[in-house]
Amino acid sequence: MNLYQPKYHHLALAKNYATLCEEVAGHIFSISEEKIRTKGRFSIALSGGMTPKGIYALMGSSRLHGQFQWEKIHFFWGDERWVLPDDHLSNYRMVAESLLTRTDIPPQNIHPISTRQKDAETSARLYEKEIRDFFNIGAAEVPRFDLVLLGLGLDGHTASLFAGENSLAVQDRLVIPVYHKEMEQMRVTLTLPVINNAENIFFIVSGREKAEILKSVLEPKTDTANYPAQLVKPSNGTLSWFVDQFAALLLEKASTHEG
Ligand code: 6PG
Repeated sequence: MNLYQPKYHHLALAKNYATLCEEVAGHIFSISEEKIRTKGRFSIALSGGMTPKGIYALMGSSRLHGQFQWEKIHFFWGDERWVLPDDHLSNYRMVAESLLTRTDIPPQNIHPISTRQKDAETSARLYEKEIRDFFNIGAAEVPRFDLVLLGLGLDGHTASLFAGENSLAVQDRLVIPVYHKEMEQMRVTLTLPVINNAENIFFIVSGREKAEILKSVLEPKTDTANYPAQLVKPSNGTLSWFVDQFAALLLEKASTHEG
C-alpha cells in the first residue's frame, strides 16, 4: 500500500479495487475494535452508491465475518434515496444484500433511513430523532459518529449534498430532505455539521472515471470550495482518502512510500 505524503490530510493509494476494499475493511475493523474496547460500541454511517459494495461484501464474507463484534456495531446511513427499501436504487437494499443478510447483526443495531413515511421531510425528522436518541443528545448538540464513510460523485457531491443547494449551508439540523434536480430524485441526507463532527471520515474513490473530479477536489486551482466534497473538513477528527491508482491517475505524486 503506497502512502502519499499529501498536501491534504492523508491519502492511501491502492493498486486496484480489490486492494482498496481490503484496506478499508481492515481500517473499519481496527476502529470498531478500538471503539468497542474503549466505549463498548462502534457507530458507523455508511455510504451509498456502488463503490462501497465490495467493502460491505468483504466485511460479510466468510473470511472476515467472524472477526467483527456485530452485536456492538451500529449501522446508520449517510444518505438514502427516496425509494422503498426493496427498490434497486435503495442504499439500504445495497447494504442489506452485500452485508446485512450475510451476518447475524442484531436488528436493533441496524438504523436505516425509513422511506416508508408520508414524505422525505417526515423521514428526515424521524431519523434525526433516532440519531439523537442513540447518542443521547439534546436539540442543540451534534452527534459524533466514530466513522463516516463517503463516496465522491462525478460532480463532486458526497452523501446527498449537491453543489448549489441550500442543504450545504444547513447548520441547525442533522438530517434533511434534498431534491436533486438533475437526477429528479428526492433524497434524505446527513448534513455537513454531522459529517464534520465525526471522529473518522473515510472517502472511498475508485476507477478512472473519477480521476478528473478527484484531482479537482484534492488539488484545486483556487482555494474556493467548488465542490461539496471540499466542505468535508472534520472539526475534531481525521479525514482519510482511500483511492485506487486509477482514480489517483491525475494526482501529483508528491511522494510515496510503501505503507
Ligand atoms: C449515493 C451516495 C453518493 C455516492 C456517490 C458515489 O447515495 O449515491 O451517497 O454520495 O457515494 O455518488 O457513487 P458511486 O460509488 O456509485 O460512484
